Amino acid sequence: MQPSALSPQHLSTVVFASGRGSNLAALLAAQNSGSLPIQIRAVMSDKAKAGALDIARDAGIAAVSLAPREFSDRRVFDQALFDRAAAFSPDLIVLAGYMRVIDGSVVAQWHGRIINIHPSLLPKYSGLHTHQRALESSDRVHGASVHFVTAKLDGGPVIAQVELPVLANDTPESLAARLRPQEHRLLIASIDAIARHRVVLGDSGILVDGHALTAALRLSEDGTLA
Ligand code: GRF
Repeated sequence: MQPSALSPQHLSTVVFASGRGSNLAALLAAQNSGSLPIQIRAVMSDKAKAGALDIARDAGIAAVSLAPREFSDRRVFDQALFDRAAAFSPDLIVLAGYMRVIDGSVVAQWHGRIINIHPSLLPKYSGLHTHQRALESSDRVHGASVHFVTAKLDGGPVIAQVELPVLANDTPESLAARLRPQEHRLLIASIDAIARHRVVLGDSGILVDGHALTAALRLSEDGTLA
């Protein structure tokens, strides 16, 4: 690795993604505009055909994929992919549509340095089909969460959330489409807070500006967290 020429507050970042990569594209746009103090070093995937890998290549960023079926079990695969990520010396790992459960022993190696974006107001609807489940529950409000990753699926401490009203004629697809740009804003704001050392994961939970966080931060209209 070349030594970083970036200022210390530029977080060296590796993004994990399994699919289209719209969150990755939003992060890259924010990085390149100078508004988000990160440097995305690499994109890792479990899917060789993930759109996110194409976005990375187009941006001149390392794109790495490994196939789970070529490894003996989940832990061995996860360790191999995260070892590849570690070679880029990330300060932060961002799971942005990475659709695999990660072995707890591997997650533990990145405690406090790995976050995930999840399309629900956690603790509601961990796992899959979040939009459909919100509609089935007749929720009036849906949303997305960014959280530190722990061994519990979608169960780590929540940093911030964005809310979205559910409309009478919403479908899972329409909800997902309206939520997506909000997810991008939420992820950018959350990473910005981490990069500026405003948000850290302490021994007993999240600290914001040195104070214990008792309820998840909310994304406001102007893109700030409160
Ligand atoms: C997002 O909705 C994210 O919340 C979920 O997977 C989706 C990824 O979308 N975990 P994209 O690949 O970033 O477009």
